[in-house]
Amino acid sequence: MWRCVIIAMNDSQEPFTLPVLAAGLVHEVKNPLSAIHLHLQLLENQVLQVEDEELRAQMKRRVEIIKREILGLNQTLQEFIRLIRSETRAIAAAGLNEIVEQVVQLLGPQAGRNQIRLETNTGAVPDHLQMDASFLKQTLVNLILNSIQAYETVDDNRDRLIVVTTGTENGRFFLRVEDNGAGILPEDREKIFEPFFTTKVHGSGLGLSLVRKMMMEMGGHVDLVSSPGKGTRFTLYFDGAVKALPEPAEIQGHEAV
Ligand SMILES: Nc1ncnc2c1ncn2[C@@H]1O[C@H](COP(=O)(O)OP(=O)(O)OP(=O)(O)O)[C@@H](O)[C@H]1O
Ligand SMILES: [Mg+2]
Repeated sequence: MWRCVIIAMNDSQEPFTLPVLAAGLVHEVKNPLSAIHLHLQLLENQVLQVEDEELRAQMKRRVEIIKREILGLNQTLQEFIRLIRSETRAIAAAGLNEIVEQVVQLLGPQAGRNQIRLETNTGAVPDHLQMDASFLKQTLVNLILNSIQAYETVDDNRDRLIVVTTGTENGRFFLRVEDNGAGILPEDREKIFEPFFTTKVHGSGLGLSLVRKMMMEMGGHVDLVSSPGKGTRFTLYFDGAVKALPEPAEIQGHEAV
């Protein structure tokens, strides 16, 4: 069993920041895309003036295809932007475990189809904490899907089990997803957090890099324990990651706002 703790680094220590790269990419792609779209519209009008009927029909068809592809690209960009931007809406501590249960219910059938039991073990959450609901959902979906996929290469008849645990350790809220799937090779343990690193045929390799990016935004760190062939455990510790609301005692000690 090997152990690795990835500390979420601050921006200056981080060799890349996904939001900056993403914003740059979106900007670089969007501007030429709208110029192409504009000129295509002009071309569309000019095509109407072509006298040869067959050529005109042919050109019109090609313009239509280009237009459809441009709109498709634009749609992809919009989805990418939505993925990168996290909602800022905070949820109170009381709702954290409910969200965990919701996500587990959502992915339960998928786990079931793969003969995997998906269980929760929700514990106490400090009641002065607030967290971004979309962050929690996205992160949990990414981690649980990875755990489900971790059985794709397992061909023995082990009892397949994924457990999602929440709780508080030394005053820190944690969220843990543990499986007894394929595990992660020691040489891959750093790489799995890099964007586009994947060992799957249809993986994009963006799941864990987003988890790390979101953890960095909120503070906190990811603890990874994995044993090749035996299983993996990801624990997210929300050190400074949760917005602490003032304790009632603190409010009493200050002037009311
Ligand atoms: N629970 C796990 N068990 C085993 N390997 C894992 C686990 N979680 C992640 N990995 C490894 O980390 C790699 C990167 O994971 P990540 O979620 O970033 O991308 P992905 O799952 O390959 O693709 P996607 O973008 O669709 O999520 C995976 O390809 C896999 O090799
Ligand atoms: Mg993934």
